[in-house]
Amino acid sequence: MVAQVIDGKAFAAKVRAQVADKVAKLKEEHGITPGLAVVLVGEDPASQVYVRSKGKQTVEVGMNSYEHKLDAETSEQDLLALIDKLNNDPAVHGILVQLPLPKHLNEDLVINAINPAKDVDGFHISNVGLLATGQKAMVPCTPLGCLMMLRDHHGSLSGMDAVVIGRSNIVGKPMAQLLLGDSCTVTIAHSRTRNLPEVVRRADIVVAAVGRPEMVPGDWIKEGATVIDVGINRVERDGKTRLVGDVDYASASERAGAITPVPGGVGPMTIACLLANTLTACCRANGLPEPEGLTA
Ligand code: GUN
Repeated sequence: MVAQVIDGKAFAAKVRAQVADKVAKLKEEHGITPGLAVVLVGEDPASQVYVRSKGKQTVEVGMNSYEHKLDAETSEQDLLALIDKLNNDPAVHGILVQLPLPKHLNEDLVINAINPAKDVDGFHISNVGLLATGQKAMVPCTPLGCLMMLRDHHGSLSGMDAVVIGRSNIVGKPMAQLLLGDSCTVTIAHSRTRNLPEVVRRADIVVAAVGRPEMVPGDWIKEGATVIDVGINRVERDGKTRLVGDVDYASASERAGAITPVPGGVGPMTIACLLANTLTACCRANGLPEPEGLTA
């Protein structure tokens, strides 16, 4: 079997177009413009690239973008004061503090200072708890993007066997909760899992989110399974830097029914879902119906 390629770039463009359409209606019918504040502390080059990209795409869908760049020595007190200001600013519907933070800042403390209703990353403990108990939450962007692609490909996921490889708070754990919410039978596998190849071979859906280049070979994949590769790993090959996933694409695409490539799979969906979450937060804040198809 040669796998169908799930085109995350095209899917993300579709999501952004849906968001832009709903933003235009919000402005026209209610005079409301959703606003996203992004806070960057320090000069981490990768973070600067992400933040620039987020700001650009926020403006492209018609939302207001507020960027707060603080220097690397910013005190916890000053960062918390900024978050408090954004929590109380009615023009700001979503707040994202770019991670990682410099070492002297306590990430848990900072994230949990964000108003959960504005926590468009879905990292606040309230949102984690709401998701785990099947209540209305803000859902982390990358797993939400994976869920959207899976629903689009399969329709219903009910009863499917899903294996999530990786147990991070940002991807693995919320991904498992979302799949459970869609009635999959879910296994979370990780570095200590025994017989990982056997565990993965049972799965109708494999979500790989470990951050290890090409660690999942094609012969672990059940014929016809759907493979969602969250990994974005930089490797040196033939003297060039290339991006590869956590799955060995060449061999996996010969067995899978459908697979996301790297780059161009899950990656572009993350910011698209951040915009979707900002729209959702704005609708909720104003007592308006949530945008259909853009939430969990
Ligand atoms: N750094 C890398 N990915 C993310 C993300 O999704 N959200 C935040 N806040 N920081 C990140």
